[in-house]
Amino acid sequence: MAATMIPGATDRRIDALLALLCDNAMIVISGAKIAREIGVTRTTVWRWIEKLRDLGVQVKGHPRTGYHIEQTADVLVPRLLRKRLHQGPFGKRIHHFFKTDSTNTVAMHLGEQGEPHGTVVVAEEQTAGRGRAGHTWYSEKSSGIYMTVLLRPPVSPQQAPLITLVAGLAVREAILEQTGLTPDLRWPNDLLFGHKKFCGILTEMHAEQDQILFVAVGIGINVNHQRIPAELQSIATSLRIETNRVHSRLEICARLLRHLETYYNRFVAEGADPIVSRFSEVSSYARGKRVRIATVSGTYLGTTDGLEPSGLLRVRRDDGRTLPVIAGTLSEAN
Ligand code: BTN
Repeated sequence: MAATMIPGATDRRIDALLALLCDNAMIVISGAKIAREIGVTRTTVWRWIEKLRDLGVQVKGHPRTGYHIEQTADVLVPRLLRKRLHQGPFGKRIHHFFKTDSTNTVAMHLGEQGEPHGTVVVAEEQTAGRGRAGHTWYSEKSSGIYMTVLLRPPVSPQQAPLITLVAGLAVREAILEQTGLTPDLRWPNDLLFGHKKFCGILTEMHAEQDQILFVAVGIGINVNHQRIPAELQSIATSLRIETNRVHSRLEICARLLRHLETYYNRFVAEGADPIVSRFSEVSSYARGKRVRIATVSGTYLGTTDGLEPSGLLRVRRDDGRTLPVIAGTLSEAN
């Protein structure tokens, strides 16, 4: 299937321009040569370079002398991302946006249009990033990873929630590798350092009664945010704030896609068991944690009591009943 051009997606020639500059780092390439190689006018090259500069890419030079890149670019365009990936289906097709409303919304549309398993939608900025329970996801330009992976899993719709756990495990692994710090997993979809969240996962699905048509796994990671907006400061953090250094979003994205593919393949081949037991091992929320569960019909307190084989979290409520959490938002209770 040829890569279709999605409205609003980054022009593939900008991708080619950036790859050309990165492949020739520190070498000055004339505007005319770039224009010839990627098939646009010199004015367009200049305009696109301005656009890249606006994203923080450090391109030195001007149309008459030529351009060169001063520092490795950290823009999640297909060519730069794909060369860090293995051969598998995850990331074989990548749709990049400088700005879009929500990568999950784009991926859901693509799913309906038959886009293949493993397709990635990624944006530098989201204007309407969505979280669970109707929340918005703060999506500052070029600072975070805003990515959705489209999957077509051969499992029943009842097993779909496990894909959120699969994604959480993959993010944990990628961040541990990247930073050396071990994130905690808050069932089902948050990754934390201490009490502060730096990653959220939103899994959406299109299914018939007994068959999943596709799943969109949306992952938002606060990577290089220097500051978190005041209203979120007590509950959110970023990798940069935690580690005091800037991280390559390209590297993190690539690590994440590789781990996601591994965990996903394991889930499809072996079922829920390895996923549920791994999650139980590494999440401090799986057992013995005092929690507050907020649901539409009210809030209750309890202590977590392990995961069910289906991946649902059991909570021993203060009223004595032990029940799985079907819907609701979990937070640690003091
Ligand atoms: C949550 O914690 O409530 C889930 C947040 C998920 C945010 C990501 S960012 C990429 C993708 N696109 C969206 O609109 N949402 C997800």
